[in-house]
Amino acid sequence: MEILRTVDSVRQWVRAQREAGRAVHFVPTMGYFHEGHLSLMRRAQHDNGAVIVSIFVNPLQFGAGEDYNRYPRDFERDRQMAQSVGVEAIFYPDVAEMYPAGYQTEVRVKELSKPLCGRSRPGHFEGVATVVLKLFNIVTPDRAYFGMKDYQQLRVIQQLVRDMNLPIEIVPCPIVREPDGLAMSSRNVYLTPEERTAATVLYRSLQWAQAQVESGERDASQLREGVFQRIAAEPLARIDYVEVVDAETLQPVERIDRPTLIALAVFFGKARLIDNCIVAPAAGY
Ligand code: PAJ
Repeated sequence: MEILRTVDSVRQWVRAQREAGRAVHFVPTMGYFHEGHLSLMRRAQHDNGAVIVSIFVNPLQFGAGEDYNRYPRDFERDRQMAQSVGVEAIFYPDVAEMYPAGYQTEVRVKELSKPLCGRSRPGHFEGVATVVLKLFNIVTPDRAYFGMKDYQQLRVIQQLVRDMNLPIEIVPCPIVREPDGLAMSSRNVYLTPEERTAATVLYRSLQWAQAQVESGERDASQLREGVFQRIAAEPLARIDYVEVVDAETLQPVERIDRPTLIALAVFFGKARLIDNCIVAPAAGY
C-alpha cells in the first residue's frame, strides 16, 4: 500500500492506475477508522477499482471552540485497517499541502448548507465542500463513496458535483451501527460509559418514528414531537435539533407523503452525535 503525502505523488499514482486501465475509487475521511469507514472501502473495492482513501482532519470545517485539536488521530492503526480491506493508497497530506500560505478560495453550496447542522455549525459545510472539491480535483476519481450517517453532507456533495459538472459518481452507503444501534462515529470515543449507554436513545427514538410511519402516521410534527420527547427524557442528552425534512431539499415537511429524513443532533457531555433515518409512505397507503 502506498502512503502519499503530496498532491504530485497522488497525481502520479492515479495516472499509473489509469494507464493500467483501472477505475479509481475514492473514500475521503478524517481517519480514526471504524466499521463505518471500512464499509465504504469494502464497497469501493467490491465495485472493481483501485481504492484510494484520504485521511485529512480538515481545519476549515471545524468552528471556533469545536474539537479540531482533540479530534482522535492514529495513523498507524488506520494504515493497518485500510490495508486489511485492500486499500491500495492513502493520501495523507499535512495542512500546508492542502492550504499553503496565501490560500484564499472557498466553495459554498448555498441552500443545502443552511438547515440542520448548518444552523448550529456556521461555515461547516463550506469547509466540507471546499476540501472535498480540492480532493476531487487532486484524485480525479471515477467514483466517490459517502456514508448516509452524514446525510446533509452527502446531499451537499451531490449538489456540488452536479453544479460544478464533475464527472464523478457519488455512491451513498448505509449507516453502520454498533450492535445496540448507536451509529458508529470517530467521536464516540468522547463518551463516558454512562453517556455511551444513554446515547442508545437516539436509534431507539428513530426506530419508534419508523414504526409510527409504518403503522400509518403521516403527521410530521407528531413524529418530531415523539422523537424529541423520547430523547429529552434522557437526563444526559442535550438536544441540538430534531427535524423532519424532505430528503432531497432538506426543507421541513408537514406530512410524510414522500421520502422524508428524520435527522437529529444531540450532545452527550463533550460529544455532539448525529443520526438519521429515511421514512417513506409504503405503496398502498
Ligand atoms: P469522516 O467523519 O471521517 O467520515 C468519512 C466518511 O465515512 C463519510 O462519508 C461518513 O459519512 C462515513 N461514515 C462515518 N460514520 C459512518 C457510519 N457509521 N456508517 C456509514 N458511513 C459512515 O465525513 C468526513 O469524515 C469529512 O467531512 C470529509 C467528507 C472527509 C471531509 O473532510
